[in-house]
Amino acid sequence: MKKIKVVSIFGTRPEAIKMAPLVKELEKRSDLIESKVLITAQHREMLDQVLEIFEIKPDFDLNLMKHGQTITDITSGVLKGVEEVLSEYKPDIVLVHGDTTTTFSAALAAFYQKVTVGHVEAGLRTGNIYSPYPEEMNRMLTGRLATWHYAPTTLNRNNLLLENVKDENIIITGNTVIDALYYVTDKDYEFESEELRNIDFENEKVILLTCHRRENWGTPMENIFTAIKTLASKYSDCKIIFPMHKNPLVRDTAKKIMGESPNIILTEPLEYQPFAKLMSKSYLILTDSGGIQEEAPGLGKPVIVLRTETERPEAVEAGTVKIAGTDTDTIIDMVSVLMDNKEEYEAMSKANNPYGDGKAAQRIVENIIKEFS
Ligand code: UD1
Ligand code: UDP
Repeated sequence: MKKIKVVSIFGTRPEAIKMAPLVKELEKRSDLIESKVLITAQHREMLDQVLEIFEIKPDFDLNLMKHGQTITDITSGVLKGVEEVLSEYKPDIVLVHGDTTTTFSAALAAFYQKVTVGHVEAGLRTGNIYSPYPEEMNRMLTGRLATWHYAPTTLNRNNLLLENVKDENIIITGNTVIDALYYVTDKDYEFESEELRNIDFENEKVILLTCHRRENWGTPMENIFTAIKTLASKYSDCKIIFPMHKNPLVRDTAKKIMGESPNIILTEPLEYQPFAKLMSKSYLILTDSGGIQEEAPGLGKPVIVLRTETERPEAVEAGTVKIAGTDTDTIIDMVSVLMDNKEEYEAMSKANNPYGDGKAAQRIVENIIKEFS
């Protein structure tokens, strides 16, 4: 019997984390599926860290990352590179994830080859094409190009229905990030880094910070880091840990504003396993990341979002996530409430997981087998 040929395409850290469980699940069904992995390497080190943890060996590597790359550089590189692979390999379906430039360009390249596209993490929307930028447009365009829409939640499904996507082509799966989180938190792990091992999580309040979004570059990011610096001196007995994104723009701004604060630890990006452990041990998380807003509710960790809007209102409804925006004083005020007011803190610390049961990858693979066998 002819096997179903599936190519999973991804290029950045969050896509890799969220596609890894799916790649694993596709491999399990090798009786029916021939699974190939194509990485664009829009990210390099941050992507390779994830591949190693999940023991994924890509079949094709476009090796695209350049320092100072523009969205156009990535788009054109992915279009050309993916075209070469697909025109030769001719899969039945290409799977892309989420909203990066890799996602959209790979979906477009597949469409040009008349290959069916399955969109994992479909249907997230803020309604503002510049926030997040360029992700909101990337996911809308990917939604137009896709045939199969793997929507994490009912709300995501409803967003797609409003854009006239056919109901029978939308499958509510949960978010594969929960599958990934279970994969790493199931295993025992001791921090390798001495800096992290030395922290007394029982007696020290640890604030975990991540920040990288393109729409925050410049003044908003400076405002955020100024707020963090002020908070570090206000709460001098707490520790603030910032695993810095590899983007030099982010790192330079972080070092300039927060580099001298004794209780702010600026580190390299952490591998997913230590990062997940650090999330679970932290008192509070401050972030502009999308994925962390999905992981934290499951861990019962309060999150202050350093963005003006979110495409993940389920986490806000769950009570663990609050939007602060990028204004310095607002961030200081919101964090101070959680540092000083036990009741407010407790109210935000209830574990509640609106993003699924860790079986999202299984549901996606079942759908592929049903539709292509
Ligand atoms: C990209 C995605 C964003 C996603 C984010 C996750 C786009 C336009 N942006 O943003 O949607 O949320 O990834 O982190 O698709 N770099 C390294 N090593 C790495 C990764 C990045 O050195 O492993 C540096 C390079 O100098 C690179 C720069 O970071 O040029 C920016 O990377 P890029 O992928 O263009 O943008 P991100 O801000 O990472
Ligand atoms: N993450 C990680 N190491 C870090 C910072 C984040 O493994 O040092 C993980 C985090 O748990 C989440 C994902 O990376 O699953 C988020 O990636 P990122 O913030 O780069 O992208 P976004 O979610 O904003 O698209």
